[in-house]
Amino acid sequence: MATTVSDLKTRADEAVREIAAAADDAALEVARVRYLSRKDGLITAATKELATLAAADRPAYGQAVNEAKRRIEAALEGRQAALRSATIDRSLGESVDLTLPPRRVRLARMHPISRTIREITRVLATLGFEAVEGPEVEWDYYNFEALNIPRDHPARDKFNTLWIQSPLGDDPDRPMLLRTHTSPMQIRVMEQRQPPVRVVVPGRCYRFEATDATHESLFHQYEGLAIDEQLTMADLKGVLYSFARQLFGGERKVKFRPDYFPFTEPSAEIAFDCFVCDGAGVTNTGRCATCGGSGWIEAAGCGMVHPDALRRVGYDTSRYQGFAFGGGVERLAMLLTGTPDIRLFHENDMRYLESV
Ligand code: PHE
Repeated sequence: MATTVSDLKTRADEAVREIAAAADDAALEVARVRYLSRKDGLITAATKELATLAAADRPAYGQAVNEAKRRIEAALEGRQAALRSATIDRSLGESVDLTLPPRRVRLARMHPISRTIREITRVLATLGFEAVEGPEVEWDYYNFEALNIPRDHPARDKFNTLWIQSPLGDDPDRPMLLRTHTSPMQIRVMEQRQPPVRVVVPGRCYRFEATDATHESLFHQYEGLAIDEQLTMADLKGVLYSFARQLFGGERKVKFRPDYFPFTEPSAEIAFDCFVCDGAGVTNTGRCATCGGSGWIEAAGCGMVHPDALRRVGYDTSRYQGFAFGGGVERLAMLLTGTPDIRLFHENDMRYLESV
């Protein structure tokens, strides 16, 4: 069946209409095969017919075949591009939902205990104290013996100790433990330095303790130590005044109450007047919850470094003396952040940690 030039044009018009109406890539592929397939597409069939025509008719017919091929190709390309951009438009419309609340950005923040340690060391740095750290696994010697607490001393009862089993085998003469306070660093620092010494030692301590709102078996202490010529209790008091005022503000008062520690003589417990009720023990809502109504907040143990300890590290006690103080970081952090229970610090409940 001979195909005429006008037949061909009609077929091409149909093809272009069909392609323009293709709903998706699959329909487009069906059309491409029907019209452009090399095996039995419309254009291939029409080209074959060229040979059956009279020589005079060939140029016009050949031109018409080329024209039909070009139009069909252009239609396929156009429809393909249109389908692609429709797909993109659709997916854009889906993902950009401006009514969705944005994802919350979570900023990291410093843990209240770390913040308190930084605050303590910052304040003491203004008074000339250098921050140093020491080991948490400690020899009995530094934790007790060198601090005038020998094997059978009753002061050991105060420090419920967690003992360490050494993987290398235990030496009964050199027991190992988790330090129960930061005071062992008094000895370690004095062993390594000559006076004048002024250090503050923050760090973790451990006691075998039943847990309650104010006790945990893991806690933190800070230890202050100053050794020089002519240091007295007045210097200790001056440092703690400044410490209390920089931490808790205003005109904080400092009170010494006699106490006992084997490694200081004399020893005292230091208390600040309460920064919430200004020492009155009451607020306008009743008994002050922060100080429990006493007007005072016990903050630390302190005293003049015992001459035994100075001698033990080889200091000349006729020339040097010094003072030491040490207290709980959690206690200060509870006061500074209004945290009612020490366990909140290490429970890792983000609702609490993000609120202080
Ligand atoms: N280390 C003592 C304690 O934990 C406190 C203290 C430190 C006392 C320094 C005197 C001097 O109880």
